[in-house]
Amino acid sequence: MAIQRNSSTVDPKESKSIPEEREQESIIENILRPKRLSEYIGQENIKSNLDIYIQAAQKRGEPLEHFLFYGPPGLGKTTLANVIAHEMGVNIKTTSGPAIEKTGDLASILSNLQAGDILFIDEIHRLKTSMEEILYSAMEDFVLDIVLGKGPGARSVRLKIPPFTLVGATTQAGSLSAPLRDRFGDVIKLQFYTEPEMKQIILRSSKILEIEIEDAAALKIAQSARSTPRIANRLIKRLRDFAEVKYDGVITAKVAKEGLKALGIDEYGLDHTDREILTTIAEKFEGGPVGLSTLAAATAEEKETIEDVYEPYLLQIGMLKRAPRGRLLTNKAIKYLQNN
Ligand SMILES: Nc1ncnc2c1ncn2[C@@H]1O[C@H](COP(=O)(O)OP(=O)(O)OP(=O)(O)O)[C@@H](O)[C@H]1O
Ligand SMILES: [Mg+2]
Repeated sequence: MAIQRNSSTVDPKESKSIPEEREQESIIENILRPKRLSEYIGQENIKSNLDIYIQAAQKRGEPLEHFLFYGPPGLGKTTLANVIAHEMGVNIKTTSGPAIEKTGDLASILSNLQAGDILFIDEIHRLKTSMEEILYSAMEDFVLDIVLGKGPGARSVRLKIPPFTLVGATTQAGSLSAPLRDRFGDVIKLQFYTEPEMKQIILRSSKILEIEIEDAAALKIAQSARSTPRIANRLIKRLRDFAEVKYDGVITAKVAKEGLKALGIDEYGLDHTDREILTTIAEKFEGGPVGLSTLAAATAEEKETIEDVYEPYLLQIGMLKRAPRGRLLTNKAIKYLQNN
């Protein structure tokens, strides 16, 4: 997902330009991506199911069935798609819903695959309906039904394509059309990570990036990273900068504590925008319920950003509740706001 978290979490002292920083971030993200199932931390149920699917497909010499991964940004959907390709020993071609605009785009992607390859479509909920319809027969029968020409002279041709595996990823499983959703062999929901898993991920990333980190600091970051690996990796990099500038480069518990505070991240892992969302519901809507669009307007955030990025974690830690008429603060959130 391209959604970025609010810029208020960016260190104002940072000198790099935003595009440069993003580019560097995506390079580091790739370096940190586990390549094999055994390196992928957490999501134990998903891993053991995938392991069985992979072994079974390999035994039969067939491509894997189609999968859909869904869950909040940064939990490891893209990573899993790449891990599967690696384990199957096949190529992976990556694209995204909004990038596939014309029949020709999709036809050329599909016909250039080799048997068994994985086609990874990120943000698959943003595919046009007309593109979805082409995918149906491609997924079911490995054929492309294409209409050539227009008007009375138009004719439909059927082209065979190599048997392939479609892996879709989305943060919004709800906005996927039912016919598309039904064509996936398995629809897999990624879970937020536990604290020990987060700590393991942090220690692994630090080791790869050759960052010295104390155990207690890793735990502190684990507690502050919204149960999300991408955020943990981002915090490690920020804290390394902090440690290098103000201390001797080692991320100690003290560095982690001070650095997180400087970044505006509190002991729940909440940042300025989370607090603003909670405060707005409390102060402008008497604790709710408030509808998503109203809340978005009141906080000047995008509706999708609240829904995809902020809300899942606030729901997860029990600060927010969803009711038929909108979002409500919980008692925990009310207590939190009194103390912060
Ligand atoms: N299980 C894991 N173990 C170790 N690192 C992980 C794990 N899952 C994710 N990561 C790290 O988190 C980063 C983000 O993961 P990834 O890009 O796969 O998330 P995503 O779910 O595809 O997010 P988005 O919805 O934004 O596309 C990766 O660089 C990877 O290093
Ligand atoms: Mg992704």
